[in-house]
Order: sequence, then structure tokens, then C-alpha cells
Amino acid sequence: MPHVLFVFGTRPEAIKLAPLIEELRRNPSFDVRVCVTGQHREMLAQVLRLFDIVPEFDLDLMTLDQGLSEMTAAILAGMRDVLRSTRPDLVVVQGDTTSAFAAGLAAFYAGIDVAHVEAGLRSGDSLAPWPEEVNRKLLSIVTRYHFAPTEESRANLLREGTDPAQIFVTGNTVIDALKKAASRIDGDDVLRARLDSEFSFLDRRRRLILVTGHRRESFGSGFESICDALAEIAGEHEDVEIVYPVHLNPNVMLPVHRILGRNARIHLIEPIDYLSFVYLMTRSEFILTDSGGVQEEASTLGKPVLILRETTERPEAVSEGNARVVGTDRETIVSETRLLLHDAAHRAAMSQPSLAFGDGKAAERIAEVLLEATLSDRCRAASPRAT
Ligand code: UD1
Ligand code: UDP
Repeated sequence: MPHVLFVFGTRPEAIKLAPLIEELRRNPSFDVRVCVTGQHREMLAQVLRLFDIVPEFDLDLMTLDQGLSEMTAAILAGMRDVLRSTRPDLVVVQGDTTSAFAAGLAAFYAGIDVAHVEAGLRSGDSLAPWPEEVNRKLLSIVTRYHFAPTEESRANLLREGTDPAQIFVTGNTVIDALKKAASRIDGDDVLRARLDSEFSFLDRRRRLILVTGHRRESFGSGFESICDALAEIAGEHEDVEIVYPVHLNPNVMLPVHRILGRNARIHLIEPIDYLSFVYLMTRSEFILTDSGGVQEEASTLGKPVLILRETTERPEAVSEGNARVVGTDRETIVSETRLLLHDAAHRAAMSQPSLAFGDGKAAERIAEVLLEATLSDRCRAASPRAT
């Protein structure tokens, strides 16, 4: 029975891998185990609870305001020990975090095949998002099975010389997670009532803008500028309310609370669980975010997105008309937000639900490929083992 080890460390990886873990666990052909690095703690625990994932291994590495070098080194050492003791046939990682990159590298050093979910995204700028653009490129080099969400991500991999036979276009597993969450909310009156009451502080007569932000390249002046823009928007629109679940990174939390903490129409809340966040996305009129996953989810739900970054590796959201890259400049954020608030035709044009990121069956497709690959023993036929 092929032994597959999932390794992840942050909230978005967990959300995006949960549907695949569930899919493989349903299939008796696989022996599935989970290792969390602990890059995130509370924000990861929320997702593990929701999707009922109990990790077999927890490196428990999170430290306050952690540095990239320390985290990378700790994950490499921690993973070396886990891989030595468990010898999986395949390590599955997702996305572009330090956890994904370092776990992929550790698997490569141990002579174990790597499957990369959400492969091939590229912004074209090594410094934005930072360090994710470089993480995902480095990961592609050590990956054997590249699961590209879209044709564009496949094209990026081909341009870099990746073997076409090792690339599989599957859609993004986040859409699987989103659809499951949305149908859970739709089909459960008690849950919906709980969510209504969790957010009873929001005034239904006001128009809701949802905000998230956490990119490292925006720390400092970028975040201050975003916060100034939010204060200006709330100040000039009495009929608007902003809700902002604030990332626990102190480089985010401190400026956000300092600048926006006293604003009556801006609700700064703690990170919320995935069901609550999906509920808030559906209640919002539009979304301001620098998150990768939220760009995909919002486009799928038909919620306009202003991307608070200089560039995006999700160009599909822009070409489909759902998103605009507005950066972190205060004036640009304010004027683009005004346009969405005041120009109904513009808002409607950006509110068409998009299928660009997937149809909710990505996990099924990935499982099929992995089953075929592992059964034909391609994993074990890889390069000589080194420990
Ligand atoms: C990381 C990822 C980023 C991903 C984001 C998702 C890297 C380099 N960055 O962002 O790609 O988009 O997660 O959210 O891999 N903290 C807590 N509790 C938590 C999580 C974080 O207290 O549950 C605090 C800790 O002080 C921690 C800090 O936030 O040191 C930063 O956490 P980190 O995982 O490094 O977050 P980011 O790099 O901001
Ligand atoms: N999300 C969540 N709770 C929150 C904010 C976001 O569950 O309070 C979800 C969101 O729906 C998306 C993912 O977390 O699936 C995005 O995570 P994040 O913005 O931290 O990372 P990124 O997508 O930028 O890597």
C-alpha cells in the first residue's frame, strides 16, 4: 500500500490540502499520514478542527515573529527525522510557503518523490510576493508530480523546461474546499443561524467590505498606507462597514490595531474559521485582499476583488474581470474602492462568477493520478535513496 505523507504548516495549505487528504483517506489503496510543521499554530488549529484532521507528526516550530532562515533550517532538520522514521513513498506539499518549500527539499534530500499541489503559479517578480515566488520556483525543481491548477500555470512550468508528462492540470483544490463549505452553510439552518449570530455586530443596512492582508513585502509603509486608505474609505462613506480578520503576524497586527483600532465602522476581528470566512465572503459586496487563496475564492463566488499588491500570480482573476491589482498606494486603493461603491455597472461587471480556478473536482483528479503513479511503482523507481 503506497504510503503518502502530507506536510504543511499554514492555514491556506491546510484548507487546500484538506479535500485531497479526505479523498485519499476514502481510498483504501493509500496509507495516508499527516505532518504539520507548526509554522502556524492557532490559525492552523482552526482548519484542522474544521476538517477533522489529526496529524500523526507535529514539528511544533512556531516562534514569535519568526525569521525565514531559522524556520527553514528547523523544518529541514525536523523533516529529516520524520522521513527517516517513516520512509513514505511520496511527500505531498502545497503552494509556496516556507513549510512547503523546506519539506519538499527535505524529501528530495531523503530520495523521496515530491508531489506539488498548486504548481506553476508565477508572478514573474522574485520580490513579490516575497519570499513565495522564489519558494514556488525552488519547489518546482525538486518536484516529480506537478499539479497545476490552470492552463496558465501549466504553461509557466513548460516555459521553465518541466517535463510535460509530469504536469497535470487539475483545477485548484481551494475550490473543492470552498464548495464543500458553501454547501454545508446552505444546507444547515442551525449553522447559518450560528453564523448570523456570530456576526450580529454587522449592520445589514450597511454595505460590507471584507479585508485581509499579511504579505511580508508590504510590512512597514505598505501596511500603513493600506490602513490609511481603509480609514479614509470608512470616514467618507456612512453606509459602508469594513470587517477585517487580522492575521496574527505581529508585523500586521500592531500597525493595523494602532491605525484602525478606534474606527467605529471598521471591525478588527481575530482570524476566523473557514466556514465563518466563507460566510463573510458571501455577505460582502466586495473584497480588498493580498491573499492568494481569497483571490481564487472571491472570483469563484463572483465577488469583486481589489488586490493589495503590485503583482499577482493569479492573472486569471484579472483576465476574467473579477479582480484589479491596485497595490498598496493609498490614493489608488481609495479611488478604486470609490469606483466599486458608486459605479453599479462597474461593480456588476466584476461580479460575474468565474470558473477559471476550478470546478470543485481537483482532489479527485489528483487522487487518480497519484493512484496510477504509485500503483505502477513509479515513485519507488526514483533516484537512489540517500539519508
Ligand atoms: C505565512 C506564509 C505565507 C502565507 C501565510 C498564510 C511564508 C514565508 N509565509 O505568512 O506564504 O500566505 O503564512 O497566512 O511561508 N502567528 C501566530 N499564530 C499563527 C500564525 C502566525 O501567532 O497561527 C504569528 C507568529 O508570531 C509568527 C508570525 O505570525 O511568527 C508569522 O507567521 P508566518 O507563518 O511566518 O506568517 P507569514 O510569513 O506572515
Ligand atoms: N481565511 C480564513 N479565515 C480568515 C481569513 C482567511 O479561513 O480569517 C481563509 C481564506 O478563505 C483562504 C485562506 O484562509 O482560503 C487564505 O489564507 P491567507 O490569506 O492566510 O494565505 P494566502 O492565501 O495568501 O496564502
